[in-house]
Amino acid sequence: MLRSSFVRSRSTLARAYSTKTLKIGLIPGDGIGREVIPAGKAVLEALPKEDGLSFEFVNLLAGFEHFKQTGTALPDETVEVLKKECDGALFGAVSSPTTKVAGYSSPIVALRKKLGLYANVRPVKSVDGAPGRPVDLVIVRENTEDLYIKQERQYTAEDGTQVAEAIKRITETASQRIGKMAFDIALSRQALRDAGAPSIHKTSTVTITHKSNVLSLSDGLFRETIRKFYDANKDKYGSVNVNEQIVDSMVYRLFREPEVFDVVVGPNLYGDILSDGAAALVGSLGVVPSANVGDEFVIGEPCHGSAPDIEGKGISNPIATIRSTALMLEFLGFPNPAARIYKAVDANLAEGKILTPDLGGSSSTQDVINDIIKRL
Ligand code: NAI
Ligand code: MG
Repeated sequence: MLRSSFVRSRSTLARAYSTKTLKIGLIPGDGIGREVIPAGKAVLEALPKEDGLSFEFVNLLAGFEHFKQTGTALPDETVEVLKKECDGALFGAVSSPTTKVAGYSSPIVALRKKLGLYANVRPVKSVDGAPGRPVDLVIVRENTEDLYIKQERQYTAEDGTQVAEAIKRITETASQRIGKMAFDIALSRQALRDAGAPSIHKTSTVTITHKSNVLSLSDGLFRETIRKFYDANKDKYGSVNVNEQIVDSMVYRLFREPEVFDVVVGPNLYGDILSDGAAALVGSLGVVPSANVGDEFVIGEPCHGSAPDIEGKGISNPIATIRSTALMLEFLGFPNPAARIYKAVDANLAEGKILTPDLGGSSSTQDVINDIIKRL
Protein backbone atom coordinates (compact mmCIF):
# COMPACT_ATOMS: atom_id res chain seq x y z
CA MET A 1 0.00 0.00 0.00
CA LEU A 2 1.11 3.52 -0.67
CA ARG A 3 -0.38 5.08 2.44
CA SER A 4 0.96 8.48 1.80
CA SER A 5 -0.15 11.86 0.62
CA PHE A 6 0.82 13.49 -2.63
CA VAL A 7 1.68 16.52 -0.55
CA ARG A 8 4.39 14.75 1.40
CA SER A 9 5.85 12.47 -1.15
CA ARG A 10 4.23 12.31 -4.55
CA SER A 11 7.45 12.42 -6.52
CA THR A 12 9.28 9.90 -4.34
CA LEU A 13 6.28 7.60 -4.59
CA ALA A 14 6.20 7.78 -8.34
CA ARG A 15 9.83 6.74 -8.42
CA ALA A 16 9.72 4.15 -5.68
CA TYR A 17 6.68 2.41 -7.11
CA SER A 18 7.25 2.92 -10.79
CA THR A 19 6.21 -0.67 -11.49
CA LYS A 20 3.66 -0.87 -8.77
CA THR A 21 0.35 -2.69 -8.59
CA LEU A 22 -2.25 -0.41 -7.08
CA LYS A 23 -5.26 -1.83 -5.31
CA ILE A 24 -8.30 0.32 -5.98
CA GLY A 25 -11.59 0.06 -4.08
CA LEU A 26 -14.65 0.48 -6.32
CA ILE A 27 -17.76 1.83 -4.59
CA PRO A 28 -20.44 2.28 -7.27
CA GLY A 29 -23.26 3.17 -4.83
CA ASP A 30 -26.67 3.84 -6.38
CA GLY A 31 -28.23 4.80 -9.70
CA ILE A 32 -25.82 5.86 -12.43
CA GLY A 33 -22.95 5.41 -9.98
CA ARG A 34 -23.14 1.77 -11.11
CA GLU A 35 -22.93 2.82 -14.78
CA VAL A 36 -19.99 5.20 -14.48
CA ILE A 37 -17.66 3.43 -12.04
CA PRO A 38 -16.95 0.69 -14.62
CA ALA A 39 -15.64 3.50 -16.87
CA GLY A 40 -12.97 4.38 -14.30
CA LYS A 41 -11.99 0.74 -14.01
CA ALA A 42 -11.87 0.24 -17.79
CA VAL A 43 -9.65 3.28 -18.29
CA LEU A 44 -7.18 2.14 -15.61
CA GLU A 45 -7.04 -1.31 -17.18
CA ALA A 46 -6.41 0.22 -20.59
CA LEU A 47 -3.41 2.35 -19.55
CA PRO A 48 -0.41 1.35 -21.61
CA LYS A 49 2.22 -0.83 -19.95
CA GLU A 50 4.83 1.91 -20.34
CA ASP A 51 3.15 3.83 -17.53
CA GLY A 52 4.42 1.09 -15.24
CA LEU A 53 1.20 0.56 -13.34
CA SER A 54 -1.08 -2.39 -12.96
CA PHE A 55 -4.26 -2.55 -10.96
CA GLU A 56 -6.21 -4.85 -8.70
CA PHE A 57 -9.80 -3.98 -7.93
CA VAL A 58 -12.06 -4.75 -5.02
CA ASN A 59 -15.81 -4.12 -5.20
CA LEU A 60 -17.23 -2.49 -2.11
CA LEU A 61 -20.76 -1.83 -0.94
CA ALA A 62 -22.39 1.41 0.21
CA GLY A 63 -25.49 3.42 -0.56
CA PHE A 64 -29.20 3.80 -0.08
CA GLU A 65 -30.08 0.55 -1.89
CA HIS A 66 -27.72 -1.29 0.43
CA PHE A 67 -29.31 0.48 3.39
CA LYS A 68 -32.78 -0.63 2.29
CA GLN A 69 -31.59 -4.23 2.02
CA THR A 70 -29.50 -4.44 5.18
CA GLY A 71 -30.16 -1.41 7.38
CA THR A 72 -26.58 -0.17 6.88
CA ALA A 73 -25.52 2.52 4.40
CA LEU A 74 -21.79 2.06 4.92
CA PRO A 75 -20.78 -1.44 6.04
CA ASP A 76 -17.77 -1.59 8.41
CA GLU A 77 -16.17 -4.00 5.97
CA THR A 78 -16.07 -1.32 3.26
CA VAL A 79 -14.18 1.05 5.55
CA GLU A 80 -11.85 -1.70 6.81
CA VAL A 81 -10.92 -2.89 3.32
CA LEU A 82 -10.26 0.67 2.18
CA LYS A 83 -8.08 1.37 5.21
CA LYS A 84 -6.17 -1.89 5.31
CA GLU A 85 -5.90 -3.03 1.71
CA CYS A 86 -6.47 -0.22 -0.76
CA ASP A 87 -4.20 2.47 -2.18
CA GLY A 88 -7.11 4.60 -3.38
CA ALA A 89 -10.76 4.35 -4.33
CA LEU A 90 -13.44 5.47 -6.75
CA PHE A 91 -16.86 6.39 -5.46
CA GLY A 92 -19.86 6.71 -7.83
CA ALA A 93 -22.87 8.37 -6.22
CA VAL A 94 -25.50 7.59 -3.65
CA SER A 95 -29.15 8.50 -3.56
CA SER A 96 -30.42 10.35 -0.54
CA PRO A 97 -34.12 10.19 0.23
CA THR A 98 -35.89 13.55 0.18
CA THR A 99 -37.63 12.86 3.49
CA LYS A 100 -35.71 11.90 6.60
CA VAL A 101 -35.24 8.14 6.97
CA ALA A 102 -34.34 6.99 10.49
CA GLY A 103 -30.86 5.50 10.65
CA TYR A 104 -29.74 6.67 7.22
CA SER A 105 -27.01 9.20 6.58
CA SER A 106 -24.86 9.74 3.51
CA PRO A 107 -21.99 7.22 3.27
CA ILE A 108 -19.68 9.61 1.42
CA VAL A 109 -19.90 12.14 4.24
CA ALA A 110 -19.09 9.33 6.70
CA LEU A 111 -16.22 8.08 4.55
CA ARG A 112 -14.68 11.55 4.37
CA LYS A 113 -14.68 11.62 8.17
CA LYS A 114 -13.46 8.07 8.76
CA LEU A 115 -10.60 8.40 6.28
CA GLY A 116 -9.59 11.95 7.22
CA LEU A 117 -10.30 13.31 3.73
CA TYR A 118 -10.14 16.99 4.64
CA ALA A 119 -10.00 18.50 1.16
CA ASN A 120 -12.45 18.34 -1.69
CA VAL A 121 -10.57 19.21 -4.86
CA ARG A 122 -12.66 20.12 -7.90
CA PRO A 123 -10.96 21.08 -11.15
CA VAL A 124 -13.18 22.78 -13.73
CA LYS A 125 -11.75 23.11 -17.21
CA SER A 126 -13.21 24.02 -20.57
CA VAL A 127 -12.05 22.41 -23.78
CA ASP A 128 -10.16 24.45 -26.39
CA GLY A 129 -12.54 25.98 -28.87
CA ALA A 130 -15.63 25.44 -26.70
CA PRO A 131 -18.12 28.32 -26.84
CA GLY A 132 -17.95 30.82 -23.98
CA ARG A 133 -15.00 32.07 -22.00
CA PRO A 134 -12.12 29.72 -21.23
CA VAL A 135 -12.05 28.12 -17.78
CA ASP A 136 -9.12 26.36 -16.13
CA LEU A 137 -9.49 26.51 -12.40
CA VAL A 138 -9.54 24.26 -9.40
CA ILE A 139 -11.64 24.81 -6.32
CA VAL A 140 -10.07 23.55 -3.11
CA ARG A 141 -12.87 23.22 -0.60
CA GLU A 142 -12.30 22.62 3.11
CA ASN A 143 -14.23 19.46 3.87
CA THR A 144 -14.48 19.06 7.66
CA GLU A 145 -15.85 22.16 9.36
CA ASP A 146 -17.59 25.51 8.84
CA LEU A 147 -21.42 25.37 8.97
CA TYR A 148 -21.28 21.68 7.96
CA ILE A 149 -20.45 20.52 11.49
CA LYS A 150 -24.26 20.56 11.75
CA GLN A 151 -24.44 22.01 15.24
CA GLU A 152 -27.87 23.55 14.98
CA ARG A 153 -30.48 24.39 17.54
CA GLN A 154 -34.00 25.66 17.41
CA TYR A 155 -35.96 27.34 20.18
CA THR A 156 -38.92 29.54 20.89
CA ALA A 157 -38.19 33.22 21.41
CA GLU A 158 -39.87 35.31 24.11
CA ASP A 159 -42.46 36.53 21.62
CA GLY A 160 -43.40 32.92 20.82
CA THR A 161 -41.81 32.77 17.34
CA GLN A 162 -39.22 30.18 16.30
CA VAL A 163 -35.50 30.82 16.08
CA ALA A 164 -32.89 28.50 14.56
CA GLU A 165 -29.14 28.87 14.90
CA ALA A 166 -26.15 27.06 13.41
CA ILE A 167 -22.55 27.22 14.51
CA LYS A 168 -19.93 28.12 11.91
CA ARG A 169 -16.66 26.66 13.15
CA ILE A 170 -13.34 27.68 11.59
CA THR A 171 -10.11 26.40 13.10
CA GLU A 172 -6.54 27.43 12.52
CA THR A 173 -5.56 23.76 12.03
CA ALA A 174 -8.07 23.05 9.26
CA SER A 175 -7.50 26.44 7.61
CA GLN A 176 -3.75 25.94 7.53
CA ARG A 177 -3.86 22.43 6.08
CA ILE A 178 -6.35 23.44 3.37
CA GLY A 179 -4.21 26.49 2.58
CA LYS A 180 -1.15 24.27 2.27
CA MET A 181 -3.09 21.93 -0.02
CA ALA A 182 -4.06 24.88 -2.24
CA PHE A 183 -0.45 26.09 -2.53
CA ASP A 184 0.82 22.57 -3.25
CA ILE A 185 -1.79 22.19 -5.98
CA ALA A 186 -0.78 25.58 -7.42
CA LEU A 187 2.86 24.40 -7.56
CA SER A 188 1.99 21.07 -9.17
CA ARG A 189 -0.24 22.76 -11.78
CA GLN A 190 2.66 25.08 -12.55
CA ALA A 191 5.02 22.11 -12.86
CA LEU A 192 2.64 20.53 -15.39
CA ARG A 193 2.49 23.79 -17.36
CA ASP A 194 6.26 24.08 -17.28
CA ALA A 195 6.38 20.54 -18.68
CA GLY A 196 4.24 21.63 -21.61
CA ALA A 197 0.66 20.95 -20.49
CA PRO A 198 -1.63 23.38 -22.31
CA SER A 199 -3.19 26.04 -20.07
CA ILE A 200 -4.67 29.50 -20.26
CA HIS A 201 -2.54 30.53 -17.27
CA LYS A 202 1.11 31.54 -17.38
CA THR A 203 1.65 31.98 -13.66
CA SER A 204 -0.04 30.46 -10.61
CA THR A 205 -2.38 32.26 -8.30
CA VAL A 206 -4.18 31.13 -5.18
CA THR A 207 -7.33 33.14 -4.52
CA ILE A 208 -8.61 33.00 -0.94
CA THR A 209 -12.36 33.45 -0.85
CA HIS A 210 -14.12 34.58 2.32
CA LYS A 211 -16.56 37.07 3.79
CA SER A 212 -14.34 38.50 6.47
CA ASN A 213 -15.68 42.00 5.94
CA VAL A 214 -18.76 40.71 7.83
CA LEU A 215 -17.56 37.54 9.59
CA SER A 216 -14.35 39.10 10.80
CA LEU A 217 -13.58 36.43 13.42
CA SER A 218 -14.46 33.17 11.61
CA ASP A 219 -13.72 34.01 7.98
CA GLY A 220 -11.09 36.40 9.27
CA LEU A 221 -9.26 33.48 10.90
CA PHE A 222 -9.49 31.45 7.67
CA ARG A 223 -8.04 34.30 5.61
CA GLU A 224 -5.34 35.30 8.06
CA THR A 225 -4.20 31.73 8.72
CA ILE A 226 -3.65 31.08 5.03
CA ARG A 227 -1.86 34.39 4.51
CA LYS A 228 0.33 33.72 7.56
CA PHE A 229 1.16 30.25 6.28
CA TYR A 230 2.15 31.72 2.92
CA ASP A 231 4.32 34.42 4.49
CA ALA A 232 6.09 31.81 6.63
CA ASN A 233 6.75 29.54 3.63
CA LYS A 234 7.76 32.01 0.93
CA ASP A 235 10.88 30.00 0.18
CA LYS A 236 8.67 27.19 -1.11
CA TYR A 237 5.61 29.03 -2.43
CA GLY A 238 7.10 32.39 -3.40
CA SER A 239 6.40 31.76 -7.11
CA VAL A 240 2.67 31.54 -6.41
CA ASN A 241 0.71 34.80 -6.36
CA VAL A 242 -1.80 35.24 -3.56
CA ASN A 243 -5.06 37.04 -4.07
CA GLU A 244 -8.31 37.28 -2.22
CA GLN A 245 -11.89 37.83 -3.25
CA ILE A 246 -14.96 38.34 -1.08
CA VAL A 247 -17.30 35.47 -1.86
CA ASP A 248 -20.23 37.40 -3.34
CA SER A 249 -18.07 39.32 -5.79
CA MET A 250 -16.25 36.01 -6.35
CA VAL A 251 -19.49 34.59 -7.79
CA TYR A 252 -19.87 37.65 -10.01
CA ARG A 253 -16.33 37.44 -11.32
CA LEU A 254 -16.50 33.67 -11.73
CA PHE A 255 -19.33 34.13 -14.22
CA ARG A 256 -17.99 37.32 -15.84
CA GLU A 257 -14.34 36.37 -16.23
CA PRO A 258 -13.65 32.80 -15.08
CA GLU A 259 -10.34 32.81 -16.94
CA VAL A 260 -8.67 34.90 -14.23
CA PHE A 261 -8.92 32.13 -11.63
CA ASP A 262 -6.34 29.39 -11.17
CA VAL A 263 -6.60 27.88 -7.67
CA VAL A 264 -9.47 29.02 -5.43
CA VAL A 265 -9.49 28.04 -1.77
CA GLY A 266 -12.53 28.45 0.44
CA PRO A 267 -14.22 27.28 3.60
CA ASN A 268 -16.70 24.40 3.24
CA LEU A 269 -19.93 26.24 2.38
CA TYR A 270 -18.49 28.75 -0.11
CA GLY A 271 -16.45 25.96 -1.72
CA ASP A 272 -19.56 23.82 -2.11
CA ILE A 273 -21.59 26.58 -3.74
CA LEU A 274 -18.78 27.88 -5.96
CA SER A 275 -17.88 24.44 -7.28
CA ASP A 276 -21.40 23.55 -8.41
CA GLY A 277 -21.68 27.01 -9.95
CA ALA A 278 -18.37 26.59 -11.74
CA ALA A 279 -19.60 23.28 -13.22
CA ALA A 280 -22.26 25.27 -15.06
CA LEU A 281 -19.48 27.09 -16.95
CA VAL A 282 -18.35 23.93 -18.72
CA GLY A 283 -21.58 22.49 -20.05
CA SER A 284 -22.57 19.55 -17.86
CA LEU A 285 -22.31 18.09 -14.39
CA GLY A 286 -21.40 14.93 -16.25
CA VAL A 287 -17.87 16.16 -16.99
CA VAL A 288 -16.80 17.59 -13.62
CA PRO A 289 -14.58 15.44 -11.40
CA SER A 290 -13.51 15.69 -7.79
CA ALA A 291 -11.14 14.07 -5.36
CA ASN A 292 -11.54 13.73 -1.62
CA VAL A 293 -8.02 14.04 -0.32
CA GLY A 294 -6.34 13.53 3.04
CA ASP A 295 -2.84 12.74 4.21
CA GLU A 296 -3.51 9.00 4.14
CA PHE A 297 -6.00 8.35 1.37
CA VAL A 298 -7.72 9.65 -1.77
CA ILE A 299 -11.12 8.90 -3.24
CA GLY A 300 -11.98 10.02 -6.77
CA GLU A 301 -15.65 10.93 -7.11
CA PRO A 302 -17.67 12.52 -9.93
CA CYS A 303 -19.42 15.70 -8.74
CA HIS A 304 -22.84 14.54 -9.93
CA GLY A 305 -25.40 12.45 -8.04
CA SER A 306 -27.20 9.20 -8.83
CA ALA A 307 -29.34 10.82 -11.58
CA PRO A 308 -32.48 8.65 -11.30
CA ASP A 309 -33.95 10.42 -14.35
CA ILE A 310 -31.47 8.75 -16.70
CA GLU A 311 -30.64 5.58 -14.75
CA GLY A 312 -30.68 2.38 -16.79
CA LYS A 313 -30.75 4.12 -20.18
CA GLY A 314 -27.05 3.65 -20.89
CA ILE A 315 -26.57 7.36 -21.58
CA SER A 316 -24.88 8.68 -18.44
CA ASN A 317 -21.75 10.64 -19.19
CA PRO A 318 -18.71 8.71 -17.91
CA ILE A 319 -16.29 11.66 -18.25
CA ALA A 320 -16.68 13.02 -14.72
CA THR A 321 -15.69 9.59 -13.40
CA ILE A 322 -12.85 9.13 -15.89
CA ARG A 323 -11.42 12.53 -14.93
CA SER A 324 -11.88 11.65 -11.23
CA THR A 325 -9.86 8.51 -11.89
CA ALA A 326 -7.04 10.63 -13.33
CA LEU A 327 -7.27 12.97 -10.38
CA MET A 328 -6.94 10.02 -7.99
CA LEU A 329 -3.78 8.92 -9.82
CA GLU A 330 -2.38 12.46 -9.61
CA PHE A 331 -2.83 12.54 -5.85
CA LEU A 332 -1.33 9.07 -5.51
CA GLY A 333 1.80 10.45 -7.14
CA PHE A 334 1.38 9.35 -10.77
CA PRO A 335 1.03 12.52 -12.86
CA ASN A 336 2.02 10.95 -16.19
CA PRO A 337 -0.78 8.39 -16.57
CA ALA A 338 -3.13 11.05 -15.18
CA ALA A 339 -2.05 13.49 -17.91
CA ARG A 340 -2.55 10.76 -20.51
CA ILE A 341 -6.17 10.27 -19.38
CA TYR A 342 -6.90 14.04 -19.32
CA LYS A 343 -5.52 14.34 -22.84
CA ALA A 344 -7.66 11.48 -24.16
CA VAL A 345 -10.78 13.03 -22.60
CA ASP A 346 -9.96 16.48 -23.99
CA ALA A 347 -9.45 14.98 -27.45
CA ASN A 348 -12.84 13.25 -27.28
CA LEU A 349 -14.53 16.51 -26.23
CA ALA A 350 -12.64 18.67 -28.71
CA GLU A 351 -13.66 16.42 -31.60
CA GLY A 352 -17.23 16.57 -30.32
CA LYS A 353 -18.53 13.58 -32.28
CA ILE A 354 -18.94 10.88 -29.65
CA LEU A 355 -20.85 12.60 -26.87
CA THR A 356 -23.63 11.59 -24.52
CA PRO A 357 -26.98 13.46 -24.71
CA ASP A 358 -26.16 15.84 -21.82
CA LEU A 359 -23.54 17.38 -24.15
CA GLY A 360 -25.90 17.39 -27.13
CA GLY A 361 -24.73 14.07 -28.61
CA SER A 362 -26.48 10.76 -29.14
CA SER A 363 -23.78 8.30 -28.09
CA SER A 364 -23.99 5.82 -25.23
CA THR A 365 -21.91 5.61 -22.08
CA GLN A 366 -20.04 2.67 -23.60
CA ASP A 367 -19.36 4.50 -26.91
CA VAL A 368 -17.70 7.32 -24.98
CA ILE A 369 -15.65 4.91 -22.86
CA ASN A 370 -14.49 3.10 -26.00
CA ASP A 371 -13.54 6.35 -27.75
CA ILE A 372 -11.52 7.59 -24.79
CA ILE A 373 -9.75 4.25 -24.36
CA LYS A 374 -8.86 4.28 -28.06
CA ARG A 375 -7.17 7.67 -27.51
CA LEU A 376 -5.05 6.57 -24.54
P1 NAI B 1 -27.80 14.65 -10.05
O1 NAI B 1 -26.41 15.14 -10.14
O2 NAI B 1 -28.00 13.21 -9.81
O3 NAI B 1 -28.58 15.05 -11.40
C1 NAI B 1 -28.78 16.40 -11.82
C2 NAI B 1 -29.06 16.44 -13.32
O4 NAI B 1 -27.83 16.21 -14.03
C3 NAI B 1 -30.02 15.36 -13.80
O5 NAI B 1 -30.83 15.87 -14.82
C4 NAI B 1 -29.11 14.27 -14.32
O6 NAI B 1 -29.70 13.50 -15.33
C5 NAI B 1 -27.94 15.08 -14.85
N1 NAI B 1 -26.69 14.31 -14.73
C6 NAI B 1 -25.98 14.08 -13.59
N2 NAI B 1 -24.91 13.31 -13.84
C7 NAI B 1 -24.94 13.06 -15.15
C8 NAI B 1 -24.10 12.29 -16.02
N3 NAI B 1 -23.02 11.64 -15.58
N4 NAI B 1 -24.45 12.22 -17.32
C9 NAI B 1 -25.51 12.86 -17.79
N5 NAI B 1 -26.35 13.61 -17.03
C10 NAI B 1 -26.06 13.69 -15.73
O7 NAI B 1 -28.53 15.51 -8.92
P2 NAI B 1 -30.00 15.37 -8.30
O8 NAI B 1 -30.96 15.00 -9.37
O9 NAI B 1 -30.20 16.61 -7.54
O10 NAI B 1 -29.88 14.19 -7.26
C11 NAI B 1 -30.22 12.82 -7.54
C12 NAI B 1 -29.81 11.97 -6.35
O11 NAI B 1 -28.40 11.99 -6.22
C13 NAI B 1 -30.37 12.45 -5.01
O12 NAI B 1 -30.78 11.32 -4.27
C14 NAI B 1 -29.19 13.15 -4.36
O13 NAI B 1 -29.26 13.11 -2.96
C15 NAI B 1 -28.03 12.33 -4.88
N6 NAI B 1 -26.74 13.05 -4.91
C16 NAI B 1 -25.63 12.36 -4.51
C17 NAI B 1 -24.39 12.93 -4.56
C18 NAI B 1 -23.22 12.08 -4.14
O14 NAI B 1 -23.36 10.89 -4.00
N7 NAI B 1 -22.06 12.64 -3.95
C19 NAI B 1 -24.19 14.32 -5.01
C20 NAI B 1 -25.41 14.96 -5.45
C21 NAI B 1 -26.64 14.34 -5.39
MG1 MG C 1 -22.57 20.23 -3.41
